[in-house]
Amino acid sequence: MNEAGRPKRRRISSARIYNESIGARSGTSADLAVLGALDEAMQLRGMPGVENRSFLVRAVDYLARQGVGQFLDIGVGLPAWGNVYQVARRHRPDAAVACVDHDLEVVAAWREIAAEHEPMRSVYADVRRPREILEHPEVRAVIDFDRPVGLLLTAVLHLVGVEHDQRKIVRTLTDALPSGSHLVLSHVSDQRQPAEAFERVRRIVESAGSAFTVTSPGQVAEMFGGLELVEPGLVMVEDWRPVRATRRSAGWYIGGVGRKP
Ligand SMILES: C[S@@+](CC[C@H](N)C(=O)[O-])C[C@H]1O[C@@H](n2cnc3c(N)ncnc32)[C@H](O)[C@@H]1O
Repeated sequence: MNEAGRPKRRRISSARIYNESIGARSGTSADLAVLGALDEAMQLRGMPGVENRSFLVRAVDYLARQGVGQFLDIGVGLPAWGNVYQVARRHRPDAAVACVDHDLEVVAAWREIAAEHEPMRSVYADVRRPREILEHPEVRAVIDFDRPVGLLLTAVLHLVGVEHDQRKIVRTLTDALPSGSHLVLSHVSDQRQPAEAFERVRRIVESAGSAFTVTSPGQVAEMFGGLELVEPGLVMVEDWRPVRATRRSAGWYIGGVGRKP
């Protein structure tokens, strides 16, 4: 924190880089330099961030129409378009949202919004310690774990190092949820991209201070263990119940929605 009590802007931030990649202006020149290097390394046909974010919007819309009225959004990212509380409240004006992130700048941004959009909380916590999230008093202030929860883990677990067991993290979280809860998960997957592209990206992301873990579709499927995959199952995010056909797809994120029986 700086002397004004606001979080210091780190030189490079994965949240700001992602936000820039989906067209929400927030990056420093250092963030933009990393984004430029990533674009070059990925040799993109489409826009992976936009495809991921659009998947998140369609999945939350689906959950809210299924009657899910509370959302635990871990690795929430900076406010942008398609924010969970706005999408969910189209169908559930009373929807409760707990926004969780390990970046103080993100938490501060959501704290201001949460204060004006009850029931909502902004929580500083780390997905690598899922029990702390489940037990966090600010999460418990708005999420009732006896009623169905929409758990969001979109574009966050690839930023967790291989030394952390991603499947166990997801299992710990979903085990705490009651029947009728849903998991929305997206992950960078090696289904459509050559290994060299991922290697180039990994080097850039790691030099910017974050881990970068690419996972096979089979490993992502295992993260949905014990859940029933909603149609169309685990697919490239742009193919999950698209509103219109995607002409150019980046093919970076795989994702799906699972329902707890
Ligand atoms: C790529 S953004 C994804 C934003 C949003 N979930 C979406 O799908 O549009 C990743 C976010 O995860 C956060 N993050 C990365 N590692 C994390 C961790 N270990 N615990 C909590 N949040 C994390 C970053 O700070 C960033 O805000």
